[in-house]
Amino acid sequence: MHDEIKEILIPEEDIQVKTKELASEITEKFDGKFPLAIGVLKGAMPFMSDLLKRVDTHIEMDFMDVSSYEGGMRSTGEVKIIKDLNTKVKGRDLLIIEDIIDSGLTLSYLVDLFKYRGANSITIVTLLDKPSGRQSDVKADLVGFEVPDAFVVGYGLDYQEKYRNLPYIGVLKPEIYS
Ligand code: PRP
Ligand code: MN
Ligand code: MG
Repeated sequence: MHDEIKEILIPEEDIQVKTKELASEITEKFDGKFPLAIGVLKGAMPFMSDLLKRVDTHIEMDFMDVSSYEGGMRSTGEVKIIKDLNTKVKGRDLLIIEDIIDSGLTLSYLVDLFKYRGANSITIVTLLDKPSGRQSDVKADLVGFEVPDAFVVGYGLDYQEKYRNLPYIGVLKPEIYS
């Protein structure tokens, strides 16, 4: 598996250090509140797990499974809900957790949906931000790392459902997808 990676962009240690910093900011921001943390499956799973176990205040967790890439390299532009929340968001303070913002289409869809459902506030945390891909004006409140315009995998991010279980963020060798 690792020999299909051209380059490690963000090593495991750097992810862990950054995750601790982000968790402290979340603790500070939501201290005394009871936010609903929403993990966007499947990509956000490893980050959500590492992040939230370091948040030192009460939070509720739920998951939304949406997909727009269908395992490929490019967003289809159409966001499909595969699994909705079990929790009502009306009046709640939300913390949306993502692995990456690329075109921003997934997040702008979710933000609109949660506003429509009457959320009190929406905070976005993403491990990775790829500003070069943006097709909507959505912005994260908390960002782990900015990444260049390369197809990155690992730590939740997939190519054709593979590589989510890598402990680091890496760039695939071009021969894997060409
Ligand atoms: C990926 C990623 C983000 C989204 C970002 O999810 O995990 O959720 O795309 O891209 P965007 O900003 O261009 O919308 P994907 O749809 O591949 O589903 P997955 O998380 O199950 O892999
Ligand atoms: Mn995703
Ligand atoms: Mg994907």
